[in-house]
Amino acid sequence: MVSYKELGLVNSREMFEKAIEGGYAIPAFNFNNMEQMQAIIQACVEASSPVILQVSSGARKYANQTLLRYMAQGAVEYAKELGKNIPIVLHLDHGDTFELCKSCIDMGFSSVMIDGSSLPYEENVALTKRVVEYAHQFDVTVEGELGVLAGIEDDVQAEASTYTRPEDVEDFVKKTGVDSLAISIGTSHGAYKFTPEQCTVNEDGKLVPPPLAFDVLKAVEEKLPGFPIVLHGSSSVPQDEVETINANGGALKAAIGIPEEWLRESAKSAVCKINIDSDSRLAMTAAIRKVFVDNPAEFDPRKYLGPARDNMEKLYKHKIINVLGSAGKA
Ligand code: G3H
Ligand code: 13P
Ligand code: ZN
Repeated sequence: MVSYKELGLVNSREMFEKAIEGGYAIPAFNFNNMEQMQAIIQACVEASSPVILQVSSGARKYANQTLLRYMAQGAVEYAKELGKNIPIVLHLDHGDTFELCKSCIDMGFSSVMIDGSSLPYEENVALTKRVVEYAHQFDVTVEGELGVLAGIEDDVQAEASTYTRPEDVEDFVKKTGVDSLAISIGTSHGAYKFTPEQCTVNEDGKLVPPPLAFDVLKAVEEKLPGFPIVLHGSSSVPQDEVETINANGGALKAAIGIPEEWLRESAKSAVCKINIDSDSRLAMTAAIRKVFVDNPAEFDPRKYLGPARDNMEKLYKHKIINVLGSAGKA
């Protein structure tokens, strides 16, 4: 058993309080390798932002749970070495069983998500409550979810989304004791959130997806004043990265994400954690593909992983400064 406190990590409680009060959101960036972790920490230190490093169960299998724990501890030390002691949370993304959540808590995670959103309501309540009771003994914070997001959630695949029912949220939070709540308002996981056919063209010629259910977010806020709300599936799918990938041998289909202005607006509300994974994958892949095409003789991994890391850092900084508003809040 390792406590996250020994690793220099923090839970999300104070971070969320400050974010709601200040009208910004904490970046929750997924990582599964060293370059992503370095890019996240470099960006957050430079922009002086608090950060949630999040790990899916797939990422945990990929990177190995023991290594991840030391990587998170390394992230804390690395930030200090770069000159800033920023608050860092190590969070389990989309935990689907009590056992997985417990194992992460026992291994030094400071926050876990138990995603019972695909279960019948009462089963979601029971599972979430069980995780909260265990986690709170160790001052670990817990995120629950109500409503289903479309797209791929790790090993769980949801075809259709169901918006969160605002009439359930108060009861869910009261019965489970969760510290934050992920809601479904029309975002989805992965790069293919909307097709061009679903979008309209604005006066600048940009494709605009159908609006999110901001009325649901507003109704949830009214039911739970000041309570931390989480937005999953918040990648914006930068079109320049998609173009670079496709110009360098990639074969991505037309992919449209969540407009950044919508995230900026959400961050001013009770949404205090915004999850971004796919955009980082696109930035990494675009940079690597470009090196491979520009210099096919290159075979030193540092020569393509280095540019990939730089491109991700640029993306993370842009999100922090221009979208989430968490710059300077560390
Ligand atoms: O919510 C899904 C995250 O993007 C994690 O994806 O399960 O492929 O690591 P993953
Ligand atoms: P994206 O696929 O939109 O990056 O969403 C990530 C996410 O919600 C992780 O939990
Ligand atoms: Zn998610």
